[in-house]
Amino acid sequence: MDFNLTEEQLMIQAAARDFAKNSCLPGVIERDEKQSFPKEQIMQLAELGFMGMMVSPNYGGAGMDTISYVLAMEEISKIDASVSVCMSVNNSLVCWGLETFGTEAQKQKYLTPLAKGIKDNDLYIGAFLLSEPEAGSDATSQQTTAEDKGDYYLLNGTKNWITNGSSASVYLVIAQTDPAKGSKGINAFIVEKNSPGVTVGAKENKLGIRGSDTHSIMFNDVKVPKENRIGEDGFGFKFAMKTLAGGRIGIAAQALGIASGAYELALGYSKQRKAFGKEIMHHQAIQFKLADMVTKVEAARLLCFKAAADKDEHKDYGFSSSMAKVYASEAAMWISTEAVQVHGGYGFVKEYHVERLMRDAKITQIYEGTSEIQRIVISRHILTN
Ligand code: CAA
Repeated sequence: MDFNLTEEQLMIQAAARDFAKNSCLPGVIERDEKQSFPKEQIMQLAELGFMGMMVSPNYGGAGMDTISYVLAMEEISKIDASVSVCMSVNNSLVCWGLETFGTEAQKQKYLTPLAKGIKDNDLYIGAFLLSEPEAGSDATSQQTTAEDKGDYYLLNGTKNWITNGSSASVYLVIAQTDPAKGSKGINAFIVEKNSPGVTVGAKENKLGIRGSDTHSIMFNDVKVPKENRIGEDGFGFKFAMKTLAGGRIGIAAQALGIASGAYELALGYSKQRKAFGKEIMHHQAIQFKLADMVTKVEAARLLCFKAAADKDEHKDYGFSSSMAKVYASEAAMWISTEAVQVHGGYGFVKEYHVERLMRDAKITQIYEGTSEIQRIVISRHILTN
């Protein structure tokens, strides 16, 4: 067991840290308040090669490992989780799914520009459309239908809570093709956002990650070419589950970043704020909080690394990614709440950044499978292995 990062991983971590400090920190409070999509930041991430970090260079990617992805996600999420969620969805849910299960033609046409994150000098990213108004956790209950019409599918339905909903050019859409077959009657499709019949709903007004663009997407008789189906007929549900297993590493790393960012702010504040004649770090009530925070951050980081290492070593990583996500997201919620407490009244105002981290932490317990769903995945694994 080697806990040391390689030189390349350390370089990626440093590049992500510089990017977060120089490009994300300025304006982060304003973007959060105004719910502004961080397009400029995402374009810069694309230039750094971070929008398709793990994709092979043959398909426009940077060919990095999953540990590097965790390191970059942590650094960026410390400062702006609205930027990192966009990066995570494109890397884990869109690019990975296409690289692993797409045809050569799909990879040439869609994966290559998606991994670069840029096409025709403009942003080119993807979104993953699984959730519906009535099917979030219960993902097999898809109501969106894709009717086989010979050389195309006819897509109808509504998807909810779609990250990158309006900024994406390409959607990976999960839909029911044969309700009688249950989870085996589900397929995944590549749908171009500008296809006739696609409507993007209003941007959701959210508690956290307010810069990211979350929308409902409606499909009304959208013609999807047959060659845009991903995998064999009926592979869609497994595609979604396998893709989400990797996505959960990204969200675990996002939660880790929020947790470590909140801890670092609390530590810094406790060194300069004085109360009862000394810096508050000298009070045991604060010391115990800091000790618990740093312990949880380290535990979350190790779980993220374990899941990332399992993926890089081609082991089954559904179990470890769910453990990383449930632990890191709960740590992020707890640590960010305690970080607000350490700051007292200052923690409650926007200039000190911790209240945003606390609001951003909450979504990590919800998207890409709630904490309850992660516990289902974990308990099924231990009971059947
Ligand atoms: N890999 C491969 N196959 C899998 C799998 C996996 N990880 N998980 C399940 N399957 C297979 C099962 O083996 C089964 O196949 P067989 O019939 O051949 O045995 C089939 O899929 C159906 O599985 P289950 O019976 O286990 O299905 P279930 O209805 O009990 O649901 C669940 C399982 C884990 C609860 C799943 O529905 C789930 O993960 N739900 C949460 C969905 C989710 O994460 N939604 C988030 C939306 S995406 C998002 O948030 C994106 C964003 O924009 C940020």
